[in-house]
Amino acid sequence: MKEFQVAVVGATGMVGQRFITLLETPPWFHVKCLAASARSAGKPYEEAVGSRWVMKTPIPEAVKKLVVQDASADVEKIAGMVDFVFCAVDMKKEEIKALEERYAKAECPVISNNSAHRSTPDVPMIVPELNPEHIQVIASQRARLGTKRGFIAVKSNCSLQSYVPALHPLQKFGIKNVVACTYQAISGAGKTFETFPDIVDNIIPYIGGEEEKSEQEPMKIWGKLENGVIVNAASPAITTQCLRVPVSDGHTAAVFASFEQKPSLEEIKSLWVNFRGVPQELNLPSAPKQFIHYFEEDNRPQAKLDREREKGMAVSVGRLREDSQFDIKFVCLSHNTLRGAAGGAVLMAELLAAKGYLD
Ligand SMILES: NC(=O)c1ccc[n+]([C@@H]2O[C@H](COP(=O)([O-])OP(=O)(O)OC[C@H]3O[C@@H](n4cnc5c(N)ncnc54)[C@H](OP(=O)(O)O)[C@@H]3O)[C@@H](O)[C@H]2O)c1
Repeated sequence: MKEFQVAVVGATGMVGQRFITLLETPPWFHVKCLAASARSAGKPYEEAVGSRWVMKTPIPEAVKKLVVQDASADVEKIAGMVDFVFCAVDMKKEEIKALEERYAKAECPVISNNSAHRSTPDVPMIVPELNPEHIQVIASQRARLGTKRGFIAVKSNCSLQSYVPALHPLQKFGIKNVVACTYQAISGAGKTFETFPDIVDNIIPYIGGEEEKSEQEPMKIWGKLENGVIVNAASPAITTQCLRVPVSDGHTAAVFASFEQKPSLEEIKSLWVNFRGVPQELNLPSAPKQFIHYFEEDNRPQAKLDREREKGMAVSVGRLREDSQFDIKFVCLSHNTLRGAAGGAVLMAELLAAKGYLD
């Protein structure tokens, strides 16, 4: 595979920092350009990010001195420097939509962590193990945008990255109803314990927009490609409650599900541990060897112990048992800024590269 030159747009943010850390070594992508708001533009990255750098490892030497570009004013310049951009910015939805389309129309593919384009019907929302075939919708998106190379592909919300992978292999039993209560880490709000002291010894029972995304986005992931758009799945019915909890990284979900034909617990565990997707078949560099790990121990998965499994790219599941109201219940966990954000986006880019969409 050739080495692709990439830009991180939103490089000073929490997800942007994850991208920079993840892209320090992998074989396929090289960070050539960093961009953020006009507030950061013109400064060396090290100065622009300053005390906001919250990764456990230091800022990579290769990017410390890179001068930050203005993500909005320098679109053409950035598009001319790189093969594609990773985008994770904190802006208004309509501004993000317009910005991402500007990059795409400048023939620069956009791999996005933002939610702005998630419901655009010809923009694929990819979890590479679950719906890799949705990348085919890029052909009709390119036709709409009038581009040859440029397109937008998005990641789904981080909240659902544990329970949708766990439910996916069980679809053959006809999933009818799902209840998912999520216990979400503060890094999902771009925060640390230092910047979010109110969360210590506390739980906050509201995360704006999160329940809607957690209920609606799975329907697009499980949707079908028809006439150049993704048509959302009609079932299962999903209801959620999303809580912010005092955990640094790792979103946990407590899930209840019922089926048309109830599978046995052993069948479910076997489907989980044997599940392999296209990233595993293609041996993509960021793909976990084992996508879904099942724990027999009653006290697992735990955010602190299990979020980093397979470099934060695996999903951990445990406590599968029968339920008195639904057919089954279980607990699952995924790392929200790795699998749920930057790591998932890098894996999506690897899938797109392997399939020739970034040539
Ligand atoms: N944190 C997560 O776990 C997570 C997970 C999935 C998706 N996301 C999504 O990823 C995006 C970024 O999240 P985050 O947590 O990384 O946010 P964040 O820490 O607040 O960082 C925001 C980034 O956006 C840049 N920015 C703000 N206004 C801008 C403008 N007008 N033009 C260009 N750049 C601008 C900031 O640059 P300056 O430093 O110059 O202001 C910074 O680089 C959001 O859409 C979020 O919903 C986050």
